[in-house]
Amino acid sequence: MKYKLYATFLVVFALSLGYVTCQYRTKNNQGSSLTERVQQLMEMAMKRSVLKFNGPKFKQYIKATPRNYSIVVMFTAMAPQRQCQICRHANDEFTIVANSFRYSQVYSNKLFFVSIDFDEGSDVFQLMRLNTAPVYMHFPPKGKPKAADTMDIQRVGFAAEAIAKWIGERTDIQIRVFRPPNYSGTVAVVMLLVLIGGFLYLRRNNLDFIYNKTIWGLGALFFSLTMTSGQMWNHIRGPPFIHKSQNGNVAYIHGSSQGQFVLETYIVMVINGAVVLGMILMTEAAARKGDVKKRRIFAVIGLGLVAIFFSLLLSIFRNKAQGYPYSLLFK
Ligand SMILES: *[C@@H]1O[C@H](CO)[C@@H](O)[C@H](O)[C@H]1NC(C)=O
Repeated sequence: MKYKLYATFLVVFALSLGYVTCQYRTKNNQGSSLTERVQQLMEMAMKRSVLKFNGPKFKQYIKATPRNYSIVVMFTAMAPQRQCQICRHANDEFTIVANSFRYSQVYSNKLFFVSIDFDEGSDVFQLMRLNTAPVYMHFPPKGKPKAADTMDIQRVGFAAEAIAKWIGERTDIQIRVFRPPNYSGTVAVVMLLVLIGGFLYLRRNNLDFIYNKTIWGLGALFFSLTMTSGQMWNHIRGPPFIHKSQNGNVAYIHGSSQGQFVLETYIVMVINGAVVLGMILMTEAAARKGDVKKRRIFAVIGLGLVAIFFSLLLSIFRNKAQGYPYSLLFK
């Protein structure tokens, strides 16, 4: 009698367990209705402004039809072994846009921000035929993404402002980017001032070095080289370090005068520096008194440096600005 009771109990238990899992399956099936999907997306978006998706979620929310919402996806590869240095930076900018949208007047259930990491959704990367990261894509409410639904980060960069502008073009939702105030710059300046102050205080009995022309000269030179090589542009636009094309070619210099890579600005800075060094050698040779032979060597080396590196600079410029007519030593 007792066994029978146990057996019945077990059977009932097994049946109800099966029923529950079955229910669970259907609930998570991609057959969920539009209302449900919008509801779930909104619940997820309440918790975090950028939703993390994998393959199944991509199918359920982005591939499924019908949709009445836009989804902007950042395809990325944040794992350290993927060695995507700019992905972290791109992710920060993307999050700034998502947060600006999340806490703005225009917030609605018409637009969601999603990130898909290569290590969690490599099947999606295969499906979309992607082999680079980061890539920003817009999935419109109706139809498939067109060419313009992939953001051209080579041309416009991936600063939050550029992303917001592109989203505005694709969806008619104008997001005003709000950057959280960044105090690290202020802190750095204050610390530098304290350091300089402390240094001056320690050396208060011997302040002659303030009149040292070489120190001031080097400082001014470094500032000029930094500014003329486009570091400020990098700071504002956030261009990629170099460009790896689909077929594995690497470009160090941007092909047009509308853009530049970070490494390119370093190259230009070094070349500018070499031209300056040549100039200094020549003026020193002319201004110094003394050993004529040594001065002559200085002058020749200086002239060589200026001629070679200025020619290099010109040929880089000719490459970028098509149609520029002048060149010196190299084509
Ligand atoms: C999309 O459709 C769902 C279900 O009908 C609705 O709840 C939601 O408000 C709609 N979204 C927009 C942006 O119209």
